[in-house]
Amino acid sequence: EAELYIKYKGVYLSKSMNPPQSLKYFEDFTLGPDDIIIATYPKSGTHWMQHIVGLVLNGGDPTSVDTVHNWKRAPWLEQTSMIAFNLEERPSPRVFSTHFHHNMMPLSFFDVNPKVIYVMRNPKDVFTSYFHFHEAPFLVKPGSSSEFLHKFLNGKVSYGSWFDHVKSWLNAENKQHIMYISYEELSADLKASVAKVAEFLEKRLDDEVMEKIAEKCLFENMKENKIFHSEVVSKYLDHTKFFRKGVVGDWKNLLAAEEAEHFDAVYTDKMKDVEYTFVWD
Ligand code: A3P
Repeated sequence: EAELYIKYKGVYLSKSMNPPQSLKYFEDFTLGPDDIIIATYPKSGTHWMQHIVGLVLNGGDPTSVDTVHNWKRAPWLEQTSMIAFNLEERPSPRVFSTHFHHNMMPLSFFDVNPKVIYVMRNPKDVFTSYFHFHEAPFLVKPGSSSEFLHKFLNGKVSYGSWFDHVKSWLNAENKQHIMYISYEELSADLKASVAKVAEFLEKRLDDEVMEKIAEKCLFENMKENKIFHSEVVSKYLDHTKFFRKGVVGDWKNLLAAEEAEHFDAVYTDKMKDVEYTFVWD
């Protein structure tokens, strides 16, 4: 088990997803002021936001999201596969994704302050989604859900502690360039969320275009999108693992009452200094 993970800047990472050469690549990466970064703890709605941002930037034209995989349109800066793409030469604005904590960003990030969209989700649902996602061959077998719960609450999972992740981004020094949004807000009102993203990215879009984008980003429509069924993806994991249920509150089907209580107690303790009001509180 230990062999599959490394500890980097105090955070557990999967060796196969984040080998030394991709960490070096990430550390040396030169971000520019026009770059857009989608930052998330895993399973918080990354693919969803990548899709929304792609459509918002091209004015609702579905061609790009139907023909170019999210992994290429909004590559994760810290993952191996990215070294193969020529990231520097993409047209502006370049969109990147990251699962890294705020304090792990490369030096250039703090120089140029690119726009960041930080998506967060009820950690009990993140836990649930992550548990199911651990069927992926590049992750350690999760064990039973209660074993995985122990690891999750202690940050002994790929990308570390959910609590540390969220706190790092909420406590960022320079918050003017960060937009915070939650999975639950996307779920409750997708069109309003599209509007919020468009405004943040300074894209003027007609009402009907935003309507179309929201429609395109519905769970079923994304799940059916052939681009996610491609060979490159299914080699790692079948697409249903990225589009599993897509609902709020699925933790109730996994956590026993006493586990949920324990989760809440840990949450209350770890989040006690955080002033942000989360939609799930
Ligand atoms: P579940 O496992 O709870 O279904 P990420 O993209 O960060 O890996 O997050 C994956 C989670 O987002 C999965 O959650 C997935 O089903 C959900 N998801 C992806 N696209 C979605 C959409 N369009 N609407 C709602 N949920 C979506």
